[in-house]
Amino acid sequence: MRFGRDLIELALGILRREYSRGIEYASAVVQDGLGDVAVVFVGETPAGTEVFYALELQPRVCVHYYIAVLREYRGRGLGKLLVRSVEGRCRAQAYLATTTSDNVGARRLFASLGYTEYSWEELDVSARNLLLRATCGYDDDLVLIKGIAPSALRDVRNVSAKFNERECYYVWLRLRRS
Ligand SMILES: CC(C)(COP(=O)(O)OP(=O)(O)OC[C@H]1O[C@@H](n2cnc3c(N)ncnc32)[C@H](O)[C@@H]1OP(=O)(O)O)[C@@H](O)C(=O)NCCC(=O)NCCS
Repeated sequence: MRFGRDLIELALGILRREYSRGIEYASAVVQDGLGDVAVVFVGETPAGTEVFYALELQPRVCVHYYIAVLREYRGRGLGKLLVRSVEGRCRAQAYLATTTSDNVGARRLFASLGYTEYSWEELDVSARNLLLRATCGYDDDLVLIKGIAPSALRDVRNVSAKFNERECYYVWLRLRRS
């Protein structure tokens, strides 16, 4: 496992193969100096990657933003290794990810590591808004959380709104114009 923003091109190479769209968001958060990159190797081959970031909410949270393992390396525990390693690196009190309900692999991966699933609808409005802003999770219908109950999260310095404007809204605007 290697960590570092200098791995972003390697990470994007993997994400491009596994995500149909949206990897510009992963690129932007790393270029802006907020996000970081993990790459897992099998021998010399980069086999999987994660782009993640921490946000100073109360408590500090770590967001698993983009994660992918190349098809030929799936089902060997690399996804779990990535998530566990990022948790160790991020040193937050709570961990977040979002996904779609039809993504069985991602749901199983996070469930097996102790994450609890919530649909946006079952959260109260303030927890939902905070989590949507903090994760850019608008295309997804589930949020996966470890370490805290959603209603216990606080954002006293408007961190999630600032993050959202810079890393979700502005990136979306740039994509729309291109
Ligand atoms: C999700 C993903 C990263 C999982 O990677 P992986 O290396 O195959 O995961 P692991 O081998 O560590 O498996 C972790 C657990 O999930 C289960 N799992 C993984 N893929 C699964 C699938 N398609 N169906 C059912 N279970 C699955 C494994 O059996 C394992 O369960 P266990 O802990 O109970 O034994 C990979 O499928 C992927 O890259 N998907 C495409 C990109 C994506 O959807 N990313 C997530 C967006 S949030």
